[in-house]
Amino acid sequence: MTTSDVLIVGSGAAGLTAALNLADRFRVTVLAKGALNEGSTAWAQGGIAAVLEPGDTFENHVEDTMVAGAGLNDRAIVEFVVEGAPAAIARLQALGVPFAEEAGALHLTREGGHSHRRIVHVADATGWAVQEALQRAAEAHPNITLLPDRVAVDLATSRHEERYSGAGHVWGVYAIDRATGQVELHTARATVLATGGAGRTYLFSTAPRGATGDGIAMAWRAGCRVSNMEMMQFHPTCLYNLDVKNFLITEAVRGEGGRLVNPATGRRFMPDYDAERLELAPRDVVARAIDAEIKRYGLDYVHLDISHQPADFVRAHFPNIHDKLLGLGIDMTRDPIPVVPAQHYTCGGIVVDRDGRTDLPGLYAAGECTESGLHGANRLASNSLLECFVFGEAAARHIAASWDGLPPVPSIRAWDESRVTDADEEVVIKQSWTEIRRFMWNYVGIVRTTKRLERAKHRIDLLTSEVEDYYGHFRVTPDLVELRNLLQTADLIVRSALHRHESRGLHFTLDHPSTLADAVDTVLVP
Ligand code: FAD
Ligand code: SIN
Repeated sequence: MTTSDVLIVGSGAAGLTAALNLADRFRVTVLAKGALNEGSTAWAQGGIAAVLEPGDTFENHVEDTMVAGAGLNDRAIVEFVVEGAPAAIARLQALGVPFAEEAGALHLTREGGHSHRRIVHVADATGWAVQEALQRAAEAHPNITLLPDRVAVDLATSRHEERYSGAGHVWGVYAIDRATGQVELHTARATVLATGGAGRTYLFSTAPRGATGDGIAMAWRAGCRVSNMEMMQFHPTCLYNLDVKNFLITEAVRGEGGRLVNPATGRRFMPDYDAERLELAPRDVVARAIDAEIKRYGLDYVHLDISHQPADFVRAHFPNIHDKLLGLGIDMTRDPIPVVPAQHYTCGGIVVDRDGRTDLPGLYAAGECTESGLHGANRLASNSLLECFVFGEAAARHIAASWDGLPPVPSIRAWDESRVTDADEEVVIKQSWTEIRRFMWNYVGIVRTTKRLERAKHRIDLLTSEVEDYYGHFRVTPDLVELRNLLQTADLIVRSALHRHESRGLHFTLDHPSTLADAVDTVLVP
């Protein structure tokens, strides 16, 4: 059990940014469900979007974000984030992130949907450098306690008070300590969810194994609205390899000239789908184009080819990808890279306001687990890390400003440990996990139909009753927590998709192929 001023669940870009902005004044505890660097942040490749190029403007970045977001973005939030970008980059530099430079200035690369060179990066491993710098600073701060290997199970709310106050407040979380298997209580006056996305709801995803939508599911169960969960982003270019299933080939490869080619015809095909923006069209457009080529020609993959660029240039810009591919027998300076689209980013999530506040008093959220209004129906490349920095800081600022009004933590009940474990059932968890991910991939992917969504919903309902029964009778384990959350998130995705009777951004359905005049968020209320 821990008691702190502020509890942060998640040690990626959003969680550690919030922690560092609070720690000079408050005692902060940060939980992570595995190692501290096992979230998506450390895996980010391309970089962070910021207006820094002479001739570029905030208006351009806002406009590009809104175009990608297909009308669902909240303009005021987009402006807030875009205008916060240069300062966020400066703070990361101050923490020691070694961004690439050229001729004494930051080197800016290009990605899809951006009208200018705008992406600040550390070669092709930006996230790793960012995670290291944030973690180093957090580890050095005397007011921050970092607790890896703690799997949050559920929020502790007013329902868990010894004397029920009815205030609907969030007082922290119950979390499994992996070392002991026990569920412990971690309380605080303010709690920040920074738990990342839900990519592992899908069979093929670029996201790390822990991206099971835990924060979204916990917030939903506690009474928070979630929004736009049907807007699941598929990255166009994940490596196609039967052994390595989730290695991203950064969009910056297309930004630096990479072309998409149909291996059956040898033709560059993006001119047929978006003659103007070609390979640098927004992700939904490029992913659907690849999907269409694969289906039309019965392919397993398409080719991404940057071999026309000088070999030194390719090696200098993409050293990690180059080395990884070489280990798999592909020399990207000479060979085309086989790629397929894969789930990449969760645009929807817990509804938050500009201060990172959720619907529940005492509960904040930041980063990929949220729907802040920034991304709309499709996230613009490299706007995600940026959102983590801006909203991690905004939540911290609001907690500090409203601290005196936050009530002290009352007495909260300990977790009921009277349930038993049945080891035989572990196999059920593994099977259900695979089943969910497979039907989500097949029925709730890049191109949807109402019938396929209904099929997915039917299976989710069956599995939910099984898992809830299991959850009610057996001791909770990390695997069971993730399975329950995965199922909850899959349900939210499918219900949101069934709710939207149009195609917009990342949600494309053959039954409603046109886009309605009014852009409306899908908001689910518990
Ligand atoms: P994460 O970094 O995912 O961290 C989540 C944290 O929550 C982890 O510490 C995890 O342990 C913890 N957690 C989760 N559940 C629990 C639980 N139940 N109990 C306790 N702790 C929990 N975006 C960009 O802007 N630019 C890029 O170049 C870029 N490249 C990407 C490349 C890849 C391969 C991927 C997968 C994503 C990329 N993204 C990129 C997206 C971006 O990396 C993520 O959206 C962002 O890092 C999310 O940060 P976060 O802090 O919200 O969550
Ligand atoms: C990439 O490098 O292609 C990923 C960038 C992003 O997800 O924003």
